[in-house]
Amino acid sequence: MDSYLFFDSASTTRCCDAAVEKLQLFANRDYGNPSSSHAFGQKSARAIWGARVFFANLFKVNTEQVIFTGSGSESDNLAIYGTVMAKLTRQLDANPRRTLRVIASPFEHPAVRKCVQSLAAFGVDVQFAPVDRTGQIQMDKLLDLVTSETVLVSMMRVNNITGAILPVEKIAQQVKEKNPDVVFHCDAVQAFGRIDTPSFPSSVDLLSISAHKIEGPKGIGALIVLNKKLLQSGNLRPLVWGGEQEHGLRSGTQNAGLIAGFHAAAEQVLQKKESNFRHYVTLRNEFEKRLRSAGLLGDSSQGPVTWNSPPDAAPYIVSLSVPGFPSGPLAKLLEDRRCLISTGSACSSQKVEPDVALSAMGFTAPVCNSAIRVSFSPSLKTDDVQVLVDALQQSIKHMGLLLGGKAPS
Ligand SMILES: Cc1ncc(COP(=O)(O)O)c(C=O)c1O
Repeated sequence: MDSYLFFDSASTTRCCDAAVEKLQLFANRDYGNPSSSHAFGQKSARAIWGARVFFANLFKVNTEQVIFTGSGSESDNLAIYGTVMAKLTRQLDANPRRTLRVIASPFEHPAVRKCVQSLAAFGVDVQFAPVDRTGQIQMDKLLDLVTSETVLVSMMRVNNITGAILPVEKIAQQVKEKNPDVVFHCDAVQAFGRIDTPSFPSSVDLLSISAHKIEGPKGIGALIVLNKKLLQSGNLRPLVWGGEQEHGLRSGTQNAGLIAGFHAAAEQVLQKKESNFRHYVTLRNEFEKRLRSAGLLGDSSQGPVTWNSPPDAAPYIVSLSVPGFPSGPLAKLLEDRRCLISTGSACSSQKVEPDVALSAMGFTAPVCNSAIRVSFSPSLKTDDVQVLVDALQQSIKHMGLLLGGKAPS
């Protein structure tokens, strides 16, 4: 790995030493079950409690409003299925003919998009609110979709493909002005620890976060229930039933090492949030400047490369395309030159398909089919950015020759 430059931190990050220490400690030394009442189990329980208090203070909620899950994906699924299934169950008695509606943005991560789509099998009316070229929700169209039948709206804070930042607080507020009963969920997996995310008080009711995007371990996330009423009135049904861990909302023996590792990583990243952000801006600006100097990016898309991310996107995620060059082979050529990038959301990058985020934003098929994602971590330097620019330049030349000396269209 040392010889590679990792421009893929939106897919995952290296686990920090403090988190690795916790993983090891609770794996083979203090390995007691946190539900055990004896002193050995209570060591694990105390670590989990410490993490729960930390996240509760951070989001200004009570400890029972922090639910540890197995991933960001699971947090998203718990928020969506938990809310909609609770409503469906209740309304089967009250009014079986009523059709519930769920709305999401069209460029949600598959953990949200596919989850809401799956609800159609239960008779739920699933709608996607259109977005514009800059990745912003068309509010008038969204508000048209919000009806008295709408039970849940889910919008992400930072898009994982383009870095587009959604003003979720404002969106949630407007949605609730139209229908105050809507539950608003926000997938903040790409935002947490890097830019501001909602905390109590908020029009956002449910918030998903994940550890492995912030130098924490993989396989641990949390759902933060910002709106306490969702717990009080039993409006959230569990996905996993069993021993009633996590206040009955996520059964299964908790892994104290993962939870304590998430806690350790979150503490570290939040201390460095502002300086990391400034560093991301420097890297992003240098990247753009050097692409221009190399003649790869011209004004009004004159160069072979198009910059797809909106100007006000989160600075740690950049979507680029080389129209005419498929993203898979381009990624391979960049890898041969030590640069690891992504051809889309990491979870789906095995299949190279037109990018849904870019399609939803109205980019043309050649741009969508050739999209790559560059994402920055705090450990990268501006010299590393130059290596990537050189690698892009050489790879584009190489592919041009392979494609018969044709300039990309
Ligand atoms: C926006 C977003 N939501 C959810 C997820 C899924 O998180 P996890 O990998 O923890 O399941 C990701 C991961 O890439 C993501 O980018």
